[in-house]
Formats: sequence, C-alpha cells, structure tokens
Amino acid sequence: MIYAEILAGGIGSRMGNVNMPKQFLKLGDKPIIIHTIEKFVLNNRFEKIFVVVHPEWLAHAKSLLKTYSIKDERILILSGGTDRNESLLAGPRYLKEQGTLSAKDVIITHDSVRPFITHRIIEENIEGVLEYDAVDTVINAIDTIVASTDGDFIESIPNRDHMFQGQTPQSFNVEKLINLYDNLSEEDKAILSDGCKVFILSGEKIKLVEGEVSNIKVTNPYDFNVANHMIEGATNDKSSL
Ligand code: CTP
Repeated sequence: MIYAEILAGGIGSRMGNVNMPKQFLKLGDKPIIIHTIEKFVLNNRFEKIFVVVHPEWLAHAKSLLKTYSIKDERILILSGGTDRNESLLAGPRYLKEQGTLSAKDVIITHDSVRPFITHRIIEENIEGVLEYDAVDTVINAIDTIVASTDGDFIESIPNRDHMFQGQTPQSFNVEKLINLYDNLSEEDKAILSDGCKVFILSGEKIKLVEGEVSNIKVTNPYDFNVANHMIEGATNDKSSL
C-alpha cells in the first residue's frame, strides 16, 4: 500500500507575530494546508492520507476540512509530536498499531507548508520509494555552500556540483523507518533534524528525486509574501486563458 502523510504539527515560531501556526494562514482564498492537502487528494494511488497536527490545533484542522469541503474519506487527522521526527512517525505508528502493515508499504511524507508540490514530484517519490525504500527530494544548490562550525570563519567550500538543497516529500518504506528509528540511540534521536537522517545514520541508501525551485517552504514572513505572489500569479494565468 502507498500512504501519504502531511506534516502540520509545528507551531511556526520563525513566522513571527501571527495568531496561528503558518500552515493555517490564508494563501489566496484558502489556508496553506488546504492547498497542500488538495494536491495529495488528487492522487488516487494513496490508501490513506494522514494529516499530522499539533494537539492544540486538531479541532481547527478538522473544521477547515469542512469549511473547504474536503470530503475525501482517505484523510485521517492525527496528533503531532514534540519534534518533527515524532510527527513523522505518527502515521507509521498508527499503521503498526492497526496491525495491517506489510513489508512493502511505503509512505510519502510532506511539509504542509510546501503548497506548490507538483504531481510529478509525488509520482517520482512513489516510484523511487517502491524501488529503493527511501527517497529525498532535492534541487541543485543555488548558492555556493560555505561550511563553518563557529559561524565566524570558513572551514571549507564544497564543490557546488555535489551540493543539493533538501525539500520534501521524503518517502520511506514504513516498516524500515520504524525499525531504524527505534534502533537509534537517544543521543542520535536528539540530533535528528531530518527524516532521511534516520536512514543515513543506519548506513542505508537514499535515492534522490528532483524537486522544483517553486516547491518552496513557507518558513518566515518573506517566504509567505513570495508564496502569496506565486498564488496570485497562478490565479492571473488561469483567468487569462
Ligand atoms: N512539523 C511537524 N511537527 C513538528 C514540527 C514541525 O509536523 N513538531 C512540520 C511543520 O508543521 C511544517 C514542517 O514540519 O509543515 C516543516 O517544519 P518547519 O517549517 O520547521 O515548521 P515549524 O516547526 O512549524 O516552524 P519553526 O521551526 O519556525 O517553529
């Protein structure tokens, strides 16, 4: 089976002074999270679409689905964890508890705050994870990457041709993700900032899928502004057809 998981358990502290987590802010005529959910609902290969939400925002998320008439029965809202990886594991753990997990099941996990994901990226994640068990979506590094541990002096400037910027989706074989994560030390779990690191720390291969420059993550007010312009552009393009 192929599952999707949309991560919306964060509180968006870098977004500054707004009255709700950024995934619930409106982009054009609907909240960011609704744009993202709609992209996944369009794909009929998913058995279930988990939406992982911060416990304090569960009721709000449910009411948004009603308000925006998202009636797809595959959607299941789950409560998110204390950090991103705990949210990431909410869907896989739910499946394990249901006792229906099979060795081939995969999950396509995506940031709720990347509403410009494309059908192609989703499809390539599905194909990649079915073959390789783990997939990361990346674009070529746009700027030169400069490495510095202390933030004062440069240690190295890696060859930009070998540098990529990570996006989402990140996709995993569900059983493998749970097993690898549970086998990590508490120390390793604490430094995990990224789902794919679970596989890297365990020495597993991760297949790369090409993302899009437009698959931006809304992190701060500047990104939110950019995203609003992108939505306006898309709306104007359609009305001129
Ligand atoms: N996320 C999550 N559970 C968490 C933390 C993050 O599901 N405990 C989700 C966010 O909702 C978001 C995605 O992971 O869709 C990317 O994370 P990020 O942009 O870092 O979100 P926040 O943690 O919300 O933002 P900040 O770091 O500014 O607080």
